Amino acid sequence: TGYITYDEGFGNTGSCQSEITYIDGEAGILRYRGYPIEQLSENCRFIDVAYLVIYGELPSTAERARFSAALTEQAPLRAGMERFIQNFPRDAHPMAVLSSSLNALGAYYPHIASNNHQRDLEHFDEAAAIALSKVRTIAAHTYRVSGGLPLNYPKKSLGYAENFLHLMFSVPYDEYNATPEVARAINLFLLLHAEHEQNCSTSTVRMVASAGANLFASAAAGVNALWGPLHGGANQAVIQMLTAIHEAGDDGSKFLEDAKNGKARLMGFGHRVYKNYDPRAKIIKGSFDAALASLGITNDPLLDIARNLEQAALSDDYFISRKLYPNVDFYSGLIMNALKIPAEMFTVMFAIGRMPGWIAQWHEVASNPKAKINRPRQIYVGPAKRDVPGFGE
Ligand code: CMC
Repeated sequence: TGYITYDEGFGNTGSCQSEITYIDGEAGILRYRGYPIEQLSENCRFIDVAYLVIYGELPSTAERARFSAALTEQAPLRAGMERFIQNFPRDAHPMAVLSSSLNALGAYYPHIASNNHQRDLEHFDEAAAIALSKVRTIAAHTYRVSGGLPLNYPKKSLGYAENFLHLMFSVPYDEYNATPEVARAINLFLLLHAEHEQNCSTSTVRMVASAGANLFASAAAGVNALWGPLHGGANQAVIQMLTAIHEAGDDGSKFLEDAKNGKARLMGFGHRVYKNYDPRAKIIKGSFDAALASLGITNDPLLDIARNLEQAALSDDYFISRKLYPNVDFYSGLIMNALKIPAEMFTVMFAIGRMPGWIAQWHEVASNPKAKINRPRQIYVGPAKRDVPGFGE
């Protein structure tokens, strides 16, 4: 069968050509469509970055207005989709609800979920707006159902992040009006997650898309990959880790010893590609104090533990020699916590942020006339040929 290169989990294999994201893990560089993440996070809102990731350029004023209008139009869910979400048990994990709901969207929009890439691409703008806008509504509805609360409906007057907060937190007679700082924190969180080249979930999206599947089916598969604790689930795991350390009366030093002895893993540390500070972690950390102060949080025991852990790990040989630095999840959970977004929703927040990346990557596969079905090989290590009893000698 010829020679097959062994590369466990494709750790060193370029599986595609892509024009979307550039990462230099050794130098800690991340760029979307050529623009440094530091500049984007300073000057742009999430939907501008989403437009950039999906369409390749930052939007002009007219393009932004059109994109915004499309997102507003797509914000509500069909009644059947609402019932679908309401029928899950209240304690369902929101990632299970999210992946099922995204897949179900395909059933409501058969003209863009035909599993014929050429036909699906004719409605790509509509599909992108549906996926990006409705992922937020699905997430907020899921949260409301889990708390036994009535659903909120999107408001035309609100921006993407503000509408999300309204959908989540408005209660009858008392509308949630996001302060600019809170809206900024959500925008920042989402745009830092918008795209990250061939990570586990995005590779999954491309793999599924390579077979000809539609955007919703491909994105739903991405959500399932993201759910894992070594990937998107890490932000939830970080808060659980910090809470457990706090409840045990530890300042972080005992936990760090356990991490070095292989008894625990310091969640929010380490990255397959970044062997330097994750640039996203730097940005979140930089805006952290301002965001917390604006929320009136001046002392948070979990934050103290996080700072202790970071400082201790960054000066410890175990972490230095393995090039383990904080990743984006180390601080992002603390921001979500401060915004009163429950821990089970953190990975869903990651998924909302990552939707532009999944849409753009799906589009790259679907619109590439030379794209082939992805079909990795393997190294067989099972038994040599042997005979079923009754056969052979
Ligand atoms: N705590 C303690 N030791 C660690 C950690 C950690 N967080 N991460 C890696 N190591 C050790 C690991 O035990 C191994 O040691 P040794 O060489 O002695 O066996 C060495 O460092 C190399 O680790 P690896 O597991 O081969 O590294 P990887 O590239 O396969 O894993 C990772 C990358 C992100 C899965 C891993 O660092 C990890 O599990 N981190 C914690 C989970 C986490 O924060 N994930 C979020 C990643 S960023 C956002 C995203 O992608 O979703």
